[in-house]
Amino acid sequence: MTSRTLIRDLSHKMGETVTIAGWMHRHRSMSKFGFAIMRDRTGLVQVVLEASQLEQLKGLQVESVLKVTGVVVEKKSKDPHVKEVEIQCKLLEILSPVRDAVPVNINNADVEANLDTLLDNRVVTLRNPKQRAIFRVQAALVHGYREYMEGQGFTEIFFPILAGAASEGGAEFFTVNYFDREATLTQSAQLYKQITMAVYEGVYGLSYSFRAEKFATSRHLTEFNQFEFELGFVESMEDVMEHAEGALRYMLPYVERECADELKLRGVTLPPLGEKFPRISLANALQLYKEGTGIDETSEPDLSPAAEKWLSTVWAPKEHGSGFVFVTDYPASKRPFYVKLDPNNPNNTQSFDLVGFGCEIISGGLRVNNYEEQIQRIKDKGLNPADFEDYTMMHKYGIPPEGGFGMGLQRLTQNVLGLANIKEATIFPRDVQRLRP
Ligand code: 4AD
Ligand code: MG
Repeated sequence: MTSRTLIRDLSHKMGETVTIAGWMHRHRSMSKFGFAIMRDRTGLVQVVLEASQLEQLKGLQVESVLKVTGVVVEKKSKDPHVKEVEIQCKLLEILSPVRDAVPVNINNADVEANLDTLLDNRVVTLRNPKQRAIFRVQAALVHGYREYMEGQGFTEIFFPILAGAASEGGAEFFTVNYFDREATLTQSAQLYKQITMAVYEGVYGLSYSFRAEKFATSRHLTEFNQFEFELGFVESMEDVMEHAEGALRYMLPYVERECADELKLRGVTLPPLGEKFPRISLANALQLYKEGTGIDETSEPDLSPAAEKWLSTVWAPKEHGSGFVFVTDYPASKRPFYVKLDPNNPNNTQSFDLVGFGCEIISGGLRVNNYEEQIQRIKDKGLNPADFEDYTMMHKYGIPPEGGFGMGLQRLTQNVLGLANIKEATIFPRDVQRLRP
């Protein structure tokens, strides 16, 4: 529709005759005239309708798709989301009539429904401006990530989803029947990003990850995306953490710039980045947690959700002016077979999590880059080296010292926007119960 004006641009067209198109967000009839609030991808605007046009709308429900030609005039509006202009309708065309009432009210400030109702009716609930804002922010996070990685000269890779072996170990993978063979859905692009690192040195990409997690939490999905990263010729884990931090320091201001309206609509302010994200060992983190809260988890092999929350929302902001903290040195029992062990302590790994916004958003570390050692680590985890021959081929034929990380796209979106459940930050979420829409 070449002649179409976007609602965002109407304020520059005062007095002109324009054509807009969109959905009828709300509508109200008086005796001789009426109003329709129209919605397009850029905003809302009020249209003043004459009696004959009201007649055209008779029997039609909100969400009908309309094309309106009319004159842009000034308007005093109480609703801050509606432009300070309105349209005096001259010609009304109905592009797609809606005769059934929408199952959930979507034209209020937010959708007032429980999570299941919101998700069951995603087809329409996503049209609510506050809901649609979530995935504008998500898209901006992706664009910011790509821009940062391209700026570093790294190569974007598109990883496969169907694979022959599970990458993260454990039982949390799905199998699919693949021409009478068993294939798995990738738990992460781990093995592939390492293989491509051995060619391009610095690689990144947005992968699909599948985990057959039977438990329902507010931060786990069975299908999600990861911002993947892998880098060769590193000297220490610091070389990897530097890019995890660098990416976030680029992405978050990028979102603040590109999605100022969306963040405002959702009432979001981002946590402080500080000068530098602090780096502390897991043992140290658990000790600080004990001293700060009186809760003793010092014998645990991992951080509890409560400890993650305290570290990133209480300790790090207070001590380092940052809402982010790297926690390093996780025990070997808690990390997959590809993670490099600490040369001074084989029970410890050279790995890290980045905790921010109250929870883990990144896992990363250095990788085993010696063939014999990798075969042994696979065996130590009770896995069969024969299942990983394509992967260990890279170790046989030379890989540099290397490391990388994975950051959950939906986990990050959830936390940037302060959403209670990760499913709100997932456009079509999948869990044990949910496979539709
Ligand atoms: O911690 P995870 O499992 O690590 C990996 O997959 C490694 N291959 C990463 C690496 O390069 N070493 O997953 C990485 C991130 C988590 O920090 C979290 O943000 C997200 O992915 N994530 C999930 N998001 C939603 N649902 C789940 N079930 C998730 N599991 C992990
Ligand atoms: Mg992790």
